Amino acid sequence: MNDAPSTSIHIAVPPSPAAAYDVIVEPGVLERLPALLAERAPAASYAVISDANVARLYGTAVVERLQSAGLSARLFIHGVGDAAKTIESWSALADELLAARVGRDRRVVGLGGGVSGDLAGFAAATLQRGVAFVQVPTSLLAMVDASIGGKTGVNTKHGKNLVGAFLQPRLVAIDPQVLRTLPEQELRSGAAEMVKHGAIRDVRHLEQLRDDAAAVRQGHGAALHQLILASVAIKAAVVARDPLESGERAVLNFGHTVGHALELLTDYRLPHGYAVAIGMVAAAHAGEAASITEPGTARALRETLAALALPSSPPMPLSADALLAAAGTDKKGRRGRTRYVLLRRLGEVAQPPDGGWTFELSDDIVRQALAALRPAAAGQL
Ligand SMILES: NC(=O)c1ccc[n+]([C@@H]2O[C@H](COP(=O)([O-])OP(=O)(O)OC[C@H]3O[C@@H](n4cnc5c(N)ncnc54)[C@H](O)[C@@H]3O)[C@@H](O)[C@H]2O)c1
Ligand SMILES: [Zn+2]
Repeated sequence: MNDAPSTSIHIAVPPSPAAAYDVIVEPGVLERLPALLAERAPAASYAVISDANVARLYGTAVVERLQSAGLSARLFIHGVGDAAKTIESWSALADELLAARVGRDRRVVGLGGGVSGDLAGFAAATLQRGVAFVQVPTSLLAMVDASIGGKTGVNTKHGKNLVGAFLQPRLVAIDPQVLRTLPEQELRSGAAEMVKHGAIRDVRHLEQLRDDAAAVRQGHGAALHQLILASVAIKAAVVARDPLESGERAVLNFGHTVGHALELLTDYRLPHGYAVAIGMVAAAHAGEAASITEPGTARALRETLAALALPSSPPMPLSADALLAAAGTDKKGRRGRTRYVLLRRLGEVAQPPDGGWTFELSDDIVRQALAALRPAAAGQL
């Protein structure tokens, strides 16, 4: 059932108009992928890259559909989850692609969650110094976040996403209907990034997320399609102004300083979106404590997160000292100091007087914020 019209957003990446691309959000677009690829990304053949789950659910069918339409296509399968987003996986994939003679006249199609997108994108960026790439994200997080903006890469033993490249896709095709098979925890993880988009840029998007929380949690419905579109528009606007992450794009890290610290301290058992949800509340409390964020912001954020069944406090006691230490190793820190994206109010980030996008906060302020996450146990989270 196609319950929402096709809508597309055009992202122009300065300074090169050649790098402009469309993000199409259209229920059922997977079925018309052959025509769309033939029109928007014509090629001698297509290398479709998915993890084992998505390959089984959609990959085989997509490749068969491309072949039935007379296009040459082959499926390449990698391991599931972030643990498979490694240099070793990239190396194995690159060898397979080269053995199959995937070169510049071919297109690489990343079909899957953020792991497939990042891995396929990095393979495309590095193979023969750049093979054209199409993103077909299938997780909510990949639809509203990972597939937009051209960042690709893999994890190393030194940290996540530390080896990578910028490669803008030729096209991003989003079929919200595939969210019906996405596990609820993954839906919530994606929803946290949508809350982030609303919190930094558009309070109405936040209100809509709260009102349509049921559609988000169930993974279907026209309301969800509209919310995906609104989130994509926010991310697209930010990355178009700062394609290589030299300034403004930092706002997309709202909630991620404490979020990454929580992921580190829980050995990545806490899903990314849950960690970001808690991190956003911590940043709102910190901003309020520093008189930068309007009072009541953290409370309103908690209400939206609760509607989406997202947490506002960590699931287990964690010491503030350990969290501060872990936050200090966040790779987004400039010159070794921990920096935070803060809100002025819901829908608007605060900017420091130096015109940057992040604030350095005293440990005292951060401690206050962390204590506010669990008022009953000050000092312990
Ligand atoms: N490049 C960027 O700008 C960017 C931004 C944010 C996150 N990321 C990266 O994205 C990754 C996280 O992405 P993710 O959360 O999509 O993880 P993921 O790719 O591991 O997907 C999550 C799970 O959902 C499954 N799945 C995906 N689509 C499905 C569907 N339609 N139905 C059923 N199951 C489905 C996958 O098999 C996997 O088990 C991380 O590696 C992160 O670093 C990249
Ligand atoms: Zn994130």
